[in-house]
Amino acid sequence: MIPEIRPRRLRSTPAMRRLVAETSLEPRHLVLPMFVADGISEPREITSMPGVYQHTAESLISAASAAVEAGVGGLMLFGVPRPEDKDARGTCATDENGVLNRALRSLRSELGDATVLMADTCLDEFTDHGHCGVLTDSGVVDNDATLERYAEMAVVQAESGAHLLGPSGMMDGQVGAIREALDDAGYKDVGQLAYAAKYASAFYGPFREAVGSSLEGDRRTYQQDPANRRESLYEVDLDLAEGADMVMVKPAMSYLDVLREVADRSPVPVAAYQISGEYSMISAAAANGWIDRDAAILESLVGIRRAGADIVLTYWAAEVAGRLS
Ligand code: PBG
Repeated sequence: MIPEIRPRRLRSTPAMRRLVAETSLEPRHLVLPMFVADGISEPREITSMPGVYQHTAESLISAASAAVEAGVGGLMLFGVPRPEDKDARGTCATDENGVLNRALRSLRSELGDATVLMADTCLDEFTDHGHCGVLTDSGVVDNDATLERYAEMAVVQAESGAHLLGPSGMMDGQVGAIREALDDAGYKDVGQLAYAAKYASAFYGPFREAVGSSLEGDRRTYQQDPANRRESLYEVDLDLAEGADMVMVKPAMSYLDVLREVADRSPVPVAAYQISGEYSMISAAAANGWIDRDAAILESLVGIRRAGADIVLTYWAAEVAGRLS
């Protein structure tokens, strides 16, 4: 009846638990995704993501500075153009005065190298049809024509001051096309955090509100089927062969098994993105008093780290960094 081995001994006090914790969560592990919008005069809260804002050029600087002050590892910037500035090719994405490129310039001049400034290298925020690339006459996303647009976009983002680009469109060959364009333009030190394994997820819903997306339909011809695991390892291998500097698994919480497998075999740092719908679910349950908000946030982030993420993108990055330090 008397157990010989008692794992509870190592759980007996907070100090003991701290001593034996296997996984750590530090501010530097967290990257804050941020939205900057054109044509608004006040920051606008995203209804489905309470506490997350579309920023003005000014409020972006102060929120970004505060996040860096709190110790986050980096910032990932998304641009939200005015609806009238969207077109079929996402022209605004490659305009040096487009909302995202302007914001990159001002953030880089404000923050210098004090943080790692990342930019979303994808067209969906800028196209009037809402797809991540340009379309053929029959309305299918045209992979290779899109690569040319990504290559142009990447060079403008590098010129504007991004340290690291985040190609998130899941076009075949995107990492290689961007690498070649950056090298040709002399940006050999600008790297890529490749969205290597990105699934067609229902949990992106609130993000579509956040960027004012006009997408009808879905992205299942380019983002991965949630049923697949092996395919992610193949996508990671391809992105590494094309020159990815880091790889990402996205979303995070419904794909922790994929994250673990990628982490086990990746020779480069692995990121995971705790996406909008994950933020919204925890927020909504907490707002109803159904879960302990702060504890649930920390548990979710530790879980993503435990599954193998070196870096976690989360809308709670600044708040949690502040809490941890
Ligand atoms: C595409 C992109 C998306 C997200 C990040 N980059 C949307 C999509 O693929 O539909 C979603 C992030 C989130 O849901 O928090 N540029």
